[in-house]
Amino acid sequence: MIKYLSGQNLKKNSGKTCLLRVDLNVEQGMPLDSYRLEAVLPTIKLLLKNKVRVVLLSHRGRPDVRDKKQAARDKDALSLLPFAPIFAKKLQTPVAFIEVARLGALKKAVEKSVDHLVLVENLRFFKGEDTNDPSFARELAKCGDFYVNDAFAVSHRANASVCAITKYLPSYAGLLMEKELKNLGDIIDYTKHPFTLIIGGAKISDKVGVIQNFWSAGRREADDVLVGGGPANTFLRAEGMNVIDSLVDGAALPLIKPYLNSKKVHLPSDLKWDKTAILDIGPKTVKEYAAVIKRSRVVVWNGPMGWFERKEFGNGTKGIWKAVLANKKAKVIIGGGETVASLQLVNRGITRTERGMTQKRFRDGLRDIRVGRRIWISTGGGAMLDYLSGKKLPGIESLK
Ligand code: 3PG
Repeated sequence: MIKYLSGQNLKKNSGKTCLLRVDLNVEQGMPLDSYRLEAVLPTIKLLLKNKVRVVLLSHRGRPDVRDKKQAARDKDALSLLPFAPIFAKKLQTPVAFIEVARLGALKKAVEKSVDHLVLVENLRFFKGEDTNDPSFARELAKCGDFYVNDAFAVSHRANASVCAITKYLPSYAGLLMEKELKNLGDIIDYTKHPFTLIIGGAKISDKVGVIQNFWSAGRREADDVLVGGGPANTFLRAEGMNVIDSLVDGAALPLIKPYLNSKKVHLPSDLKWDKTAILDIGPKTVKEYAAVIKRSRVVVWNGPMGWFERKEFGNGTKGIWKAVLANKKAKVIIGGGETVASLQLVNRGITRTERGMTQKRFRDGLRDIRVGRRIWISTGGGAMLDYLSGKKLPGIESLK
């Protein structure tokens, strides 16, 4: 059984130190003040309010710890230091940033710091984090009295600060983790239909599991699968179309065989090309997909419909956003950094009245991360896909 932080009497823990695993894996060049950061604020606030000292643990990127030169370059690019002033501003409290050469020195550094909120440098700068090394986890555990996992987004990784650490400290799921499990779990057990899956983005190999998990699955069987982006190219190619230079996930061609020529799977009926490559779905497809979304009662969406970063290929994704936001009756789950980022583009491109509505919805989406309502914007990318594929996530299993 998972123990939830929300069910604990935190007053009893006042004066203690919580090691709080969060996911600050924000890509370089993207705003650091991201929805992932926003989403963990409630847990931090709850702990601080109860006079619990909070030590934030996270990774960022995949630094190379074996190659010294590369490691030095990664140190600047993937540091968590820039997050410290953002947390300090948002929480109106000083944040101590701790960087140590050896993990063995972390306990002393944490004890020495007087601040109630502490941020530790990128854990993947150390060997041992991404290999789930028990001695690394034991050393980390010495820095706190209990552990909270609020990093659903990295819970599909067997990392030391996600899995092994739970062997050494009383461990709980944070407020964000609880909401993620509730919202995504509801979809798995959901009985409402029509249930629509929207699959886009670049690759399809990491999404086939989701299609499979909701295929001939009794109560939770998807009624429609709308396909765009690279996955659509891959389907079209498998059905014999010459997609020329379009992005195709070759490794997935054998995996999608069971889903070819199925009535449930909707492929684009028109496409937007850039010379020899398909870069978006066409307006007729947007209409057809929007009609399916309109009658849906549950929608799960991962991956944009085209190369939305280029204005001329953003209409497909924009059209899907509009249809999703216009359906006030459906429970909607949206995940993947790119899909969420694409909403910003929708905001820029539409009329004033529509923009008002969209921004409100997006705020609703963010608020939903805390209170769980109609639209749930998951902080997970790969973790959401794995969870919805029915896989066991090591970070969640470790909490049990
Ligand atoms: C993510 O962004 O999906 C998680 O933080 C996991 O990152 P990783 O794929 O580098 O392990």
